[in-house]
Amino acid sequence: MALVARANAALADGDPRALKRLKVQFRGMGVPEEEITVTGTSARSAGEPSWWIPKPSRAATRSSATPRPKSASTRGGGRTVSGMSWDIASGAGVTALGLAAARSVESGRSDRLIEDPFARALFDAAPADLPMLVDWPGPGVSISDAEALHLHGSRYVGLRTRYYDDALLAAAGDGLTQGVLLGAGLDTRAFRLDLPAGFHLFELDQPGVLEFKSATLGGLAAEPRCAHTAIGIDLREDWAAALQAGGFDPRRPTVWVAEGLLAYLPPEAQSGLLSAIHALAARGSVLVLDRIAGDPTAPDRLNALSERSGIDMESLLASGESNDVAASLRAKGWIAEEEPTAIVADRYGRDLSDPLPAGPDAHASEPPWLDTVFLRAHRPA
Ligand SMILES: C[S@@+](CC[C@H](N)C(=O)[O-])C[C@H]1O[C@@H](n2cnc3c(N)ncnc32)[C@H](O)[C@@H]1O
Repeated sequence: MALVARANAALADGDPRALKRLKVQFRGMGVPEEEITVTGTSARSAGEPSWWIPKPSRAATRSSATPRPKSASTRGGGRTVSGMSWDIASGAGVTALGLAAARSVESGRSDRLIEDPFARALFDAAPADLPMLVDWPGPGVSISDAEALHLHGSRYVGLRTRYYDDALLAAAGDGLTQGVLLGAGLDTRAFRLDLPAGFHLFELDQPGVLEFKSATLGGLAAEPRCAHTAIGIDLREDWAAALQAGGFDPRRPTVWVAEGLLAYLPPEAQSGLLSAIHALAARGSVLVLDRIAGDPTAPDRLNALSERSGIDMESLLASGESNDVAASLRAKGWIAEEEPTAIVADRYGRDLSDPLPAGPDAHASEPPWLDTVFLRAHRPA
């Protein structure tokens, strides 16, 4: 009850940013959703900040109505040793949901770089009310600032998704038979990419995130196009053991994908992740990932992004000095190359300028994503 009182006090003080932080903290502390009695609106109007509000009743209805797919298995679950877990409507799970909405938008465009037939259903099924569209709006349709921001972001998300699609397909084409998606979120590559039937794709993320995806895709009767194993685990823990228990074979060269993940892991967990990948990666393995250029937690960048997106990025991104990933990999004998987003965008012919400029807004010219560097590394055979 004390927590509820603090949240209401923050609201009464007219401090919605403090309120958002408290809501995230409540969930992290395991406070049941129904005991968080703060109220607000996700609709953005005249200079008013927005935030998202979960709708627990929809969650309960949908997850019990949708069966799990036969081919996917989800291991682990519940509260983790690190003390902080989340599902699709809380913590970093919400960012995966925003990406699904963006992929739905991208998939409907004539200049699309990807086609994700499951993205919309995943977004619609989630028990959250994010200020995001799943289609590019028609001419003359009025949209909120947060929706416009997300539409701009979908241009980047389409590019990023295609980059990793191509990396995965190229690795499979080169004869690799195993892939691991670290922080898979609502990634549907196992269900939509033309991977060889003998290819085994593993997905790791929080149990609640993968359970939601599994239930939703199961409700759509979606079938994976390759061998597919989902492992619910916290990537700050001993995920390597869980991966091997799930059937991963460290003797087989593997393509490792960490898309949009590193910024959520504290520096020691990033180091642990790289060490574990190195320990499990047979010679001939490939690793692709992205990292935020500069300091992801610089307050002015984050405040602008959080306030405009309606997602409290400040409380989600890990703080602390990020590792020099390329240098760490090179020190372990990997060949690593980095490319800034602009170069990748050029290669795919993707214009990332704001397609819906908002006029004299202070942040209108800033892109709604944090500046990214893409890294591709391989461990020589
Ligand atoms: C920005 S989303 C990216 C999702 C997906 N890779 C994509 O691009 O669509 C980050 C994902 O990393 C997951 N994640 C972050 N920290 C994690 C941790 N400690 N353990 C497990 N998953 C984590 C989140 O749950 C979320 O699904």
